[in-house]
Amino acid sequence: MWSVNSTSWHENVPKAYELFRPLWKGVLVTAGGFDGASAEEAVASGNVDVIAFGRPFIANPDLPERIRLKIPFTPYNRATFYGGEEKGYTDYPIHTVA
Ligand SMILES: Cc1cc2nc3c(=O)[nH]c(=O)nc-3n(C[C@H](O)[C@H](O)[C@H](O)COP(=O)(O)O)c2cc1C
Repeated sequence: MWSVNSTSWHENVPKAYELFRPLWKGVLVTAGGFDGASAEEAVASGNVDVIAFGRPFIANPDLPERIRLKIPFTPYNRATFYGGEEKGYTDYPIHTVA
């Protein structure tokens, strides 16, 4: 699974939520390239309170269960984003238990 936190262009660059944490003491929400493991790691760091998911939710209608059960995410198809029809929005599968 692609993750902002694991791409080389993002290495040694402060995470946005680490920059905002000293400036905002309220509930801090962030998003962008997280998977279940990196989301849990970010919250556990104490620098962010909530991780939101955008693109993975489009491709994984059962995203909360996948995170809970540590099931890999179905990759999203960028080509179907911002389209005017249901393709790429209502036809991704839920996971099947073997
Ligand atoms: C199809 C699509 C529509 C989006 N629409 C909005 C929007 O209306 N407002 C907004 O703040 N972010 C919007 N986003 C950005 C997401 O909220 C999120 O910040 C971004 O996808 C990064 O998180 P992710 O890596 O979990 O996808 C959109 C993203 C996608 C792919």
